[in-house]
Amino acid sequence: MIKEYLQARRTLVENRLEALMFRVDGPFKDIIEAMRYSLFAGGKRIRPILCVAAAEAITSDAELLDEILDIGCAIECIHTYSLIHDDLPAMDDDTLRRGKPTNHVLFGEATAILAGDGLLTFAFELLSSPAEKIGPAARLRIINLVAHAAGPEGMVGGQALDIAGENTDYPFTHLKTIHSSKTGALIKASIGAGAIGAGADRRQLDDLVHYGAAIGLAFQIVDDLLDATSTTEILGKSAGSDKVRGKATYPGYFGIEETRNRARSAVREATDALSGFGSEALQLRELAEYIQQRTY
Ligand code: IPE
Ligand code: IPE
Ligand code: MG
Ligand code: MG
Ligand code: MG
Repeated sequence: MIKEYLQARRTLVENRLEALMFRVDGPFKDIIEAMRYSLFAGGKRIRPILCVAAAEAITSDAELLDEILDIGCAIECIHTYSLIHDDLPAMDDDTLRRGKPTNHVLFGEATAILAGDGLLTFAFELLSSPAEKIGPAARLRIINLVAHAAGPEGMVGGQALDIAGENTDYPFTHLKTIHSSKTGALIKASIGAGAIGAGADRRQLDDLVHYGAAIGLAFQIVDDLLDATSTTEILGKSAGSDKVRGKATYPGYFGIEETRNRARSAVREATDALSGFGSEALQLRELAEYIQQRTY
């Protein structure tokens, strides 16, 4: 059932992204082509899916949920930018992503950097576009939340620690900080943004953000686990690359079995945080399970 749900939601996200994104046309077509290449390369779309699922735990207003889907799409643009830059030679130096050559391999480094910049900036154009249902106050809160999560105390900060942490000894608390910021922050913000957009009250927002923080950490723990145990063919990106680059990872620190336990307990913490919700949070519970069990 989760499989069909994910497939249906991915199609929804793909279609909406296609409607929102610039066409390959006019004087800027080269940069737009590079942006579109990575954006439509077959991502799992987990962030927009989580954003909408968090909103659905609060509201069933279809028009409001449509606007929340656009917020999720903006976050997906930020995520895609982060992957393009993450793969650059100066960062993880990867040549394969989503089963295809990385952006800089195809378009060159300068265009790849700019394609990332373009997606990041476009995301804020989307987030700040006026709409019917989400008023200016809530919209501003969402923009502030997403900007903070993507910035130096969130994803960018985590990426900086990740690079600085290559081939070094680090305490566990540092490892957890890297993972919670480089990946956890944007996932947590996807859920927070969906919840705010849907009009969550204080308690609902706290619970959903708690869920988001736990699921965000779990997501990167599983990413590490898959890098260490799966294959390039299944992942669509180079397996084993963390070890080669001396990255700070959970399997490197704890070994495979303990890493699995830690992923499981983060997912348990996430679902426990939903105890105040009923069947309206069913999808969020299933998404937590999926994040633990995913194979790519
Ligand atoms: C990969 O993210 C990088 C991390 C932040 C762990 P995803 O696993 O969500 O990548 P796509 O979007 O599905 O390719
Ligand atoms: C990436 O972490 C986190 C980002 C913010 C992009 P990784 O470097 O482990 O992601 P993959 O494995 O290349 O997708
Ligand atoms: Mg990286
Ligand atoms: Mg990487
Ligand atoms: Mg990885």
